[in-house]
Amino acid sequence: MKILVTGGVGYIGSHTVVELQKSGHEVVIVDNLSNSKIEVLNQIHQISGIKPECEIFNLDDRAKTFEFFKNHTDIQGIIHFAAFKAVGESVANPLKYYRNNLISLMNILEAMKEFGVPNLVFSSSCTVYGQPDELPVNEQAPIQKAMSPYGNTKQISEEIISDTILNGGIKAIALRYFNPIGAHESALIGELPLGVPNNLMPFITQTAIGIRAQLSVFGNDYNTPDGTAIRDYIHVVDLAKAHVIAVERMLHKKSKKDFEIFNLGTGNGFSVLEVINSFEKTCKAKLNYKIVGRRAGDVEQVYADTKFANDELGWKAIKSLDEMTLSAWNWEKALAKKIK
Ligand code: UFG
Repeated sequence: MKILVTGGVGYIGSHTVVELQKSGHEVVIVDNLSNSKIEVLNQIHQISGIKPECEIFNLDDRAKTFEFFKNHTDIQGIIHFAAFKAVGESVANPLKYYRNNLISLMNILEAMKEFGVPNLVFSSSCTVYGQPDELPVNEQAPIQKAMSPYGNTKQISEEIISDTILNGGIKAIALRYFNPIGAHESALIGELPLGVPNNLMPFITQTAIGIRAQLSVFGNDYNTPDGTAIRDYIHVVDLAKAHVIAVERMLHKKSKKDFEIFNLGTGNGFSVLEVINSFEKTCKAKLNYKIVGRRAGDVEQVYADTKFANDELGWKAIKSLDEMTLSAWNWEKALAKKIK
């Protein structure tokens, strides 16, 4: 089956391409390389033995998007990753986020209708829950007002998909990611943050390797056992595998509803200090960090109720926090070698 992976050169996209190829699917990527490097295609080739077909253009261009679908009439399903994802940048430049994330999605949905492509897997986020009243949070928890334009694009996207599906012809699965970290075991692909990382894991590995002087831990006065904020970190390869299962569920017409939504997490919450401890243990080094004030917009704690994904998708995240931090570290070291 031929699957279109938008944003397939990016972090989660590239790991998903590898897992799709491993499961025997043919992949075509569309990416604009705004946050990724074309060399990733060679790395995918090295891992899987197959260099995926890739077209470079921006999906916010409706004419190009339609042209692409006109030339690829054999696509059976789409996994749509291509989107901007930096929370802080979205606050500084909201229209960049609304334009790119929403218009790309609408162009894809219109093209799906026009060219008869029925199946969509959409990258959503646990950010839609804000700070949930009940933990672990399940898929029925109320959606809370988004903390950022980025988060709002995920909420609005889910609504756009839901409304579009009502008039038939398209099925979709939205996957609400918790905190994806780590890298492929080959250390050939991983997260490539451009500039100063916003997220915890790349900041930790960049500090350990000497690119950053010190990690700031944002707040130790939360109502949690050690005072630092808690998240549900999930290994990117576990996450990638869920995408293969989701797209196959639709291809094999196993969906129970036209629009299904699943949490993708491990179900375990870890604090910032627990992540640091895991990292120090696996890389056998002390990390230079200091406690600073809270970061605006951060929730205190969030972790997933994974029962629905476990039962319905038959999927379960299996990799431990230590495996996540070790793979992130191996990836950072591999990157450092390449730069030398
Ligand atoms: N943190 C630090 N220091 C840093 C970076 C992060 O202490 O330098 C802390 C944060 O305050 C937070 C935790 O580490 O407590 C995780 O932060 P990340 O930035 O790695 O992840 P977030 O949970 O803030 O954000 C992630 C995704 C977003 C998504 C959001 C939903 O990156 O795309 O989850 O909660 F919207």
